Amino acid sequence: MIDASDFTSVNSGKASFDDVYNRPDPRGFFRVFEKLDYSIPDRACPVFRRLIEARRNDPEEQVRILDLGCSYGVNAAELKCGLTVDELARHYRRASLEGVAPEDLLRIDREFFQEQQLDPNLVVLGLDVADAAVRYGEEVGLLDRGLVANLEAGQAPPAVAEAIRESDMVISTGCVGYVGEGTFAAIADAADETPWVASFVLRMFPYDAIAETLAGHGLETEKLEGVTFRQRRFYDDEEAEHVRKTLAARGIDFDEHEADGWYHAELYVSRPPELVTAEPLDQLLAPIALLQPRLETA
Ligand SMILES: C[S@@+](CC[C@H](N)C(=O)[O-])C[C@H]1O[C@@H](n2cnc3c(N)ncnc32)[C@H](O)[C@@H]1O
Repeated sequence: MIDASDFTSVNSGKASFDDVYNRPDPRGFFRVFEKLDYSIPDRACPVFRRLIEARRNDPEEQVRILDLGCSYGVNAAELKCGLTVDELARHYRRASLEGVAPEDLLRIDREFFQEQQLDPNLVVLGLDVADAAVRYGEEVGLLDRGLVANLEAGQAPPAVAEAIRESDMVISTGCVGYVGEGTFAAIADAADETPWVASFVLRMFPYDAIAETLAGHGLETEKLEGVTFRQRRFYDDEEAEHVRKTLAARGIDFDEHEADGWYHAELYVSRPPELVTAEPLDQLLAPIALLQPRLETA
């Protein structure tokens, strides 16, 4: 029996990729996720860019992003270097990298990513429990600072709290579900001023408790209505069936979206209420051509 309000229960039928989340380099991660057409970072990137633009008072202003569940720095590669998941997967698949030791790949990748930096005023901090992945992201320069902590366990340790104190915005793809309101409370508690939050969240995970926590820290949360974002294909029929049952337990119709064989995420953005009133989320994101009812994949 699935308890749709409990993340552990919801996660129990989701394919587990824990074995590729924390390796010395991301080759295994991309090998696995490429097969499933993992693409939520590609869909999220234009939205994050628009929000970053809105968060800046002038185009040159430095913005400090905290990527929650940053893994090897995929969102940073998208935002700082304009690379897609597919391009990253192709990079790691190159025959010339076959058999290359992780420490040599680090050196190659440091150069590879340095050559492609686009936005010198974007600072990306990455937080994840996967220490090896975070270390890789930091050492190749995708993450300006890597932070290893599990904030579900409580307050941020002092060094982590100090690092996230001046964050302007928290972003996440594929992470809510692994983390819940405890992590957002710990981040908000550590911050001088509660950062904006932009989360892409699978439809099977409830976001109410996180929105409530952020409301307690002065932010209003909006869900972008009428748009879903494909995250990845289901691993197998068993996983699809688990999602169907979980959504049913939450009164959500699988046939509307997931029947196409994909996980669908929704976008939640939390900002100060006066900004929400001045420019609601759908208006803020209106310039993005992505706002179609269903986002097509290649
Ligand atoms: C599906 S991956 C998403 C990675 C990346 N955001 C992306 O979209 O490519 C989920 C990530 O959440 C991380 N994670 C799991 N539990 C976490 C926690 N308690 N705090 C922070 N990150 C966590 C995992 O280590 C993994 O890197």
